[in-house]
Amino acid sequence: MSLVVEDLHVESGGREILRGIDLEVKKGEIHIVIGPNGAGKSSLLYTIAGIPRYIVKRGRIILDNEDITSLQPQERVRKGLCLMHQFQPQIKTIKVADLENVLVSKFGTSELAVKAREILEIEKLRNRYLFVNMSGGERKRLELYLTLLTRPRVILLDEPDSGVDVDSLVKISEVINLIIDSSLSCILVTHRGDIVNMLKRVDRVHVMCNGKIVESDGKDMLERVLRSGFRKVCEKLKEKLE
Ligand SMILES: Nc1ncnc2c1ncn2[C@@H]1O[C@H](COP(=O)(O)OP(=O)(O)O)[C@@H](O)[C@H]1O
Ligand SMILES: [Mg+2]
Repeated sequence: MSLVVEDLHVESGGREILRGIDLEVKKGEIHIVIGPNGAGKSSLLYTIAGIPRYIVKRGRIILDNEDITSLQPQERVRKGLCLMHQFQPQIKTIKVADLENVLVSKFGTSELAVKAREILEIEKLRNRYLFVNMSGGERKRLELYLTLLTRPRVILLDEPDSGVDVDSLVKISEVINLIIDSSLSCILVTHRGDIVNMLKRVDRVHVMCNGKIVESDGKDMLERVLRSGFRKVCEKLKEKLE
């Protein structure tokens, strides 16, 4: 599936948060979005996923030639679009195994989810309450697995690498490589970028500052930006606006 974002302007909490985003992720491509805190990376993913507090003021979101801008989040999930959240709520009344059973009965199983379950060591978490007292690595591994259980064809990953130890990072990147092999389309938001070196392929890197994409290029750009910091790239945006 392809995902196109056209001239997206978004408000939340009475503020303009995204200020004209254009993006095209073709079927099977993986794009990286990187940028300083508060740039609007999560807001972009939330808006694509249809979280209602992100109000689209202008522009469109198109999934495989269909305009999905006004669809509810659950309708987008049914169409094959799913978001892995940056932060997970602790739910003291639902066990991992129960949610897993519900999702499997609703969406069926996939080879990708079965492999991910093994790599991400989900069996050990089966009897735990959802995200309750879980370590950073456990939370991200479980969230990635639950996202895959909806059998997405476009997957949005919000900082799957933040706050995880190196062992979990290896497991998570192994599963993202399976996602790449499975020809899913993917947008991966990362704050630091080191996960990118563990991926077998990256099609495009976008730098976001202040609600806009200021630069898009191949993987080499990432190293350059991480070496010199975001300030230099973000200043280009200021120059353009002046
Ligand atoms: N619901 C909201 N209400 C008000 N401001 C918001 C809301 N969501 C995000 N923001 C603001 O929008 C900006 C972008 O936030 P976010 O998308 O979380 O950035 P990033 O993920 O790049 O760190 C920040 O200044 C943040 O405070
Ligand atoms: Mg964020």
